[in-house]
Amino acid sequence: MKDLFGKAMYDFQTNNSPEDIITETSISEEDEMSVAYLFRAYDEMPKIEQKALQLVYGKILDVGCGAGSHSLSLQNDRNLDVLSIDISEKAIETCNLRGVKNAQVQNLLNLEGEKFDTILLLMNGVGIFGKLENCNTFLSKLKSLLNPGGQILLDSSDIIYMFDEDEDGGKWIPSNNDYYGELTFNISYKGEKEETFDWLYLDYNTLQNAAIANGLKCELILEGEHYDYLAKLSI
Ligand SMILES: C[S@@+](CC[C@H](N)C(=O)[O-])C[C@H]1O[C@@H](n2cnc3c(N)ncnc32)[C@H](O)[C@@H]1O
Repeated sequence: MKDLFGKAMYDFQTNNSPEDIITETSISEEDEMSVAYLFRAYDEMPKIEQKALQLVYGKILDVGCGAGSHSLSLQNDRNLDVLSIDISEKAIETCNLRGVKNAQVQNLLNLEGEKFDTILLLMNGVGIFGKLENCNTFLSKLKSLLNPGGQILLDSSDIIYMFDEDEDGGKWIPSNNDYYGELTFNISYKGEKEETFDWLYLDYNTLQNAAIANGLKCELILEGEHYDYLAKLSI
């Protein structure tokens, strides 16, 4: 990977002629994504993210922390102990420049040796699972990182609304046995194209089934304004 997402964050942070990221998915045309959005303060966050931050307790792991906005809010406004991880080196450099205290380049799947009371995965947190078939791998890893009484707070959306209705009012859904929330994502930044990657959206019921299959309780905490929701998984 060229780490274009990280490069965009780093350019924004260092004021190096930042530009917006161009995104395109398997079911949607090119669109601009605001890099500034990754630098949001608590007041600018969607309600489901604010709710997640209100619910955190204890020692926290922020998975796929990006520019570290959630970590910063917890560390600075609430004085909480947060480990922030991301596979993007430039994202972690950005976090360090912003004053995130404990940010590490780390793949969630390789994280070991520490346990947490709250694990956060926000901004379509299940996206990094990539495909439905990877849910068990990610959920069992997340479960193994929880202290007794711990919780995983994550958000996603039911993207069924993205599929057109036919004349009978039914939905057209891809029929080749793939789950409809499995997308591929392309991003470009400053004329460079990133390698295509898998990105998953999960409707709440599918998440709940996957959670139960992995011995996790699943609770719907809050629904957002656009088919999005916050869920809490616990042992
Ligand atoms: C959509 S961004 C979310 C950023 C941040 N949580 C926010 O809300 O602004 C997802 C992030 O997850 C990171 N990521 C993807 N796979 C990962 C993995 N296996 N372990 C840790 N981070 C990962 C990406 O590099 C990216 O920065």
